[in-house]
Amino acid sequence: MTEPRRIIIDTDPGVDDAMAIFYALSSPELDVLGLTTVFGNATTETTTYNALALLQLAGRSDVPVARGADTPLVATYGGPVDFVHGADGQGNAGIPAPTASAVAESAAEFIVRSVMAAPGEITLVPVGPLTNIALAMRLEPKLTENLREIVLMGGNAFCPGNVNPSAEANIHNDPEAADIVFGADCPITMAGLDVTHKVQMTHADLARIGAMSNPRAEHLARILPCYVDFHTTYEGLDGIFVHDSTAVSYLLAPDAFTWEEAPIRVDCGQSFGRAKTIAGKGEGDSYAAWTPRRPVRILTGADSRRLVELELSRLAE
Ligand code: BDR
Ligand code: CA
Repeated sequence: MTEPRRIIIDTDPGVDDAMAIFYALSSPELDVLGLTTVFGNATTETTTYNALALLQLAGRSDVPVARGADTPLVATYGGPVDFVHGADGQGNAGIPAPTASAVAESAAEFIVRSVMAAPGEITLVPVGPLTNIALAMRLEPKLTENLREIVLMGGNAFCPGNVNPSAEANIHNDPEAADIVFGADCPITMAGLDVTHKVQMTHADLARIGAMSNPRAEHLARILPCYVDFHTTYEGLDGIFVHDSTAVSYLLAPDAFTWEEAPIRVDCGQSFGRAKTIAGKGEGDSYAAWTPRRPVRILTGADSRRLVELELSRLAE
């Protein structure tokens, strides 16, 4: 087997973040070097607690957690989305308190030190607001040229948002940071709503998680009902969209996806379009804001059944 791919997951756990973290930890193709935390689904205090607690539950307290930003770069944090992820970010189900603590470094410092020590080797997997990644890029201007890739969950290039018709939640939480990150000169793959709304777990799939007997799956079975209720009530779905785990799936099975490539700008205005990720592939004056940017791989389609089966098989281990 080839060497496992080295990744850092930047996350705001979050029910689907917990799924993605467990999925990555149970995948031998991936080496999770650390979790960096950010506000979003809950405060950074809570997401850091959850990151530590999830690792403990998985028996992986050896994986360091670096606490990140409490607020967006410019805007004001809108607060936890307890109607999606529960007031505790873990479906109001509780999780045993972690005994480990976050490392002394900030998330941005951890990312910079890790990447610069292994040039060209590390992939960032942000599945929350992009604040920490933008801060790391500011801290070390050579960061991007030393990254292998960024594979992120966020945005909506060709479909409506999930916060409002324009915006997806992670980008909506910090559009200014997102615009910095999409301007980075490194390979970027965007697993946004264009693809994550096409990757769905049904109630029958979720029941299979409920029947698994390992501490990770048992925790997911406790926290998922809150997330499922949100999807039933607000999305009219018989199951859930698979958001954060789709970024992990891309790392494991890129051939299960289709995509388009185009540079992305993020609307950082203060009106209805704020936080929309706008793809702009073309030439001439009309595209002047996009042309200097490297094309982003925008995932647009996936073999949902194959990816769900892959994730379920890993969660069962
Ligand atoms: C994204 O927003 C959060 O609620 C989820 O964890 C996911 O990262 C989906 O829009
Ligand atoms: Ca998330």
